[in-house]
Amino acid sequence: MQKAELLTIIEKMSPKEKVDQLLQLSADFYTDDAEDRTGPMETLDINETTIANAGTILGVSGAEKAMGIQKNYIENNSHKIPTMFMADIIHGFRTIFPIPLALGCTWSKEAVEEMASISALESSVSGLHLTFSPMLDLVRDPRWGRVMESTGEDPYLNSEFAKAMVTGYQGDDLKEDMSKVAACVKHFAAYGGAIGGRDYNTVDVSETTLREKYLPSYQAAIDAGAKLVMTAFNTIEGIPASGNKKLFRDVLRDEFNFKGPVISDWAAIKEMINHGVAADEKEAARLAIEAGVDIEMMTTCYDKHLLELIDEDPKYMDLLDEAVLRILELKNDLGLFENPYRGADPVKEKEVILSASHRESARKIAEKSMVLLENNGILPLSQETAIALVGPKATTGDLMGAWSWQGKFDEVVTIAKGLSAKGKNVTVASVESDLFENTTESLEEAKQLAKENEVVVLALGEADWMSGEAASRSDIRLPQSQIDLFNEVRAIAKKVIVVLINGRPLDLTAISEADGILEAWFPGTEGGNAVANILFGDVNPSGRLSMSFPENVGQVPVYYNTENTGRPYESAPDEKYVSKYLDVSNYAKYPFGYGLSFAKVAYEGIALNKETIDSSDETVEVTVTLHNQSEETTIETVQLYVRDLVGKTARPLKELKGFTQVALAGNERKEITLSLAVKDLAYVHPDLTWSVDPGEFHIMVGPNSRELDLVKTLVLK
Ligand code: BGC
Repeated sequence: MQKAELLTIIEKMSPKEKVDQLLQLSADFYTDDAEDRTGPMETLDINETTIANAGTILGVSGAEKAMGIQKNYIENNSHKIPTMFMADIIHGFRTIFPIPLALGCTWSKEAVEEMASISALESSVSGLHLTFSPMLDLVRDPRWGRVMESTGEDPYLNSEFAKAMVTGYQGDDLKEDMSKVAACVKHFAAYGGAIGGRDYNTVDVSETTLREKYLPSYQAAIDAGAKLVMTAFNTIEGIPASGNKKLFRDVLRDEFNFKGPVISDWAAIKEMINHGVAADEKEAARLAIEAGVDIEMMTTCYDKHLLELIDEDPKYMDLLDEAVLRILELKNDLGLFENPYRGADPVKEKEVILSASHRESARKIAEKSMVLLENNGILPLSQETAIALVGPKATTGDLMGAWSWQGKFDEVVTIAKGLSAKGKNVTVASVESDLFENTTESLEEAKQLAKENEVVVLALGEADWMSGEAASRSDIRLPQSQIDLFNEVRAIAKKVIVVLINGRPLDLTAISEADGILEAWFPGTEGGNAVANILFGDVNPSGRLSMSFPENVGQVPVYYNTENTGRPYESAPDEKYVSKYLDVSNYAKYPFGYGLSFAKVAYEGIALNKETIDSSDETVEVTVTLHNQSEETTIETVQLYVRDLVGKTARPLKELKGFTQVALAGNERKEITLSLAVKDLAYVHPDLTWSVDPGEFHIMVGPNSRELDLVKTLVLK
């Protein structure tokens, strides 16, 4: 359909019909199906006509159901406008992939794109048109439960994954390619900065930090063509995002040139009353429409009050028309006017959902996402080893994580299943352990198994509801019962390996005596097989942390790209008057970029193809040699960091500016080159513009953000 035709439809619509287009309701309004709401419910007090005309629907799934709703919808709509189905497909539809924080640890854009592409296909055949993903909130505080939905703490890495996800979901042509769905960038902006890690809390961030650290990943997704943007729940500079004109009109639309619609988060327009910036729903509606929020999710401030606002001032009619046009354009971009059922296909649905190839992909990606945190030589295990598998995450299907709406526990390969299928001598504890309480029986069995076997694999961690939305924790240790279990087993067992299933970086002090620790995150449907393949050495772990693990909660937020301060710790950690704690170092327990493999790779030599450059248009080639000093084939993630020695604002001690994954055969030596575009050294100046200053830069290469022994100086004249 041409834009002119859309405008004709809009001309014919009554003001109330237009207002209804802006309303998003959940699926249960159409199906009497109360399952899977993701926010508080209240009586909306709307009539059948409003429900029949609400522009978009949240959380429908199943091809037949979606087609039935669509058929009804179009029949009842005087202008034959189709509805549009949106849902939270965050890391897989029915085939569940690792949580986004784990995807971040793959450092693989290909893996992330593949996850998005398979998620899109399964969603599309099930009738969905748009996913509320990617979530691109930069995260620094593991108390916040939603860190599991982010790819981590680094703007560069997050931006790379943002592009990969949008490409994977949307492909090149949404109108033609029915296997794709539209992507929604969220939560604009800086939701990850919630003070104290408490969900929905205030965000107070300087504009330089906002622009330099938080905004780049959203912008990368928008540049990659993402179709929708969702507002954040929080305030920024005291103004809730859903009514924040500067954020949406000035930054998103004028600067980032975003042309698509903006949707509020669940009830976020009405919540401006709670924030205390709107006296009532009418004022909340006014603030949101003025800010350029087009779709109201699950409250009815627009539906009840936009017409009154229009009566008072015709300028609101123009704002309404603009919003309706953007919504219809999105429907049109998806080809819904021509093909309102789009990819929905009950036959294909049966074929593709949870297919063997999707499972295989989920397993491979889970393997890439797991991070080996500790190994005193115990891993990999031989298949002959007598192994006891114990702990509350051993036999459970709770390996998917909080945002796996369509995932089913009984379709998950548990750790017990995975280990038993591969190991020749695996005994699984018969008494199921609880996450929060040890029974005498379960402890006794664990101790007995520890005595009888060579190795105990302890599967510990969080339940799915302990991370994700509305799941902040002030204590980020393992539950005490699990620490007790660890201690009892440790005291008896010859060797203890901990496999962790969790959605956030944890304080792991209590299990520091483990012989090996594998951070498996919430690995998804194929989690158990992926864990087994790593523990038995079929796969050499290659995951690297995309978010730092603190020593303890008091160190939070601890992230790698900090500034030096006027009294730097690094050069004089024992001095009194330096920026430090008395009781813990400034360093993360496991830093950004960290992860072990079964190989040992040495980094040798560093050379720049030019050490002095004249212009910021140039590119510098950085060469290092890797030497695999072991027999193991491995994948090494080579990381390139930069420090700008003197800036107009204090510059971080290191910033990731590039990385590459290199396959190395046993004992292989390989020279690799990373390119650094000098324009990528730009940062936000006090006048809020991005530019690169002349001067000296340290160029550093290494296996993680801490071990950066190879350093060269680059001079920009
Ligand atoms: C979450 C969003 C999600 C929406 C719809 C909200 O509570 O913050 O991330 O997309 O619900 O389910």
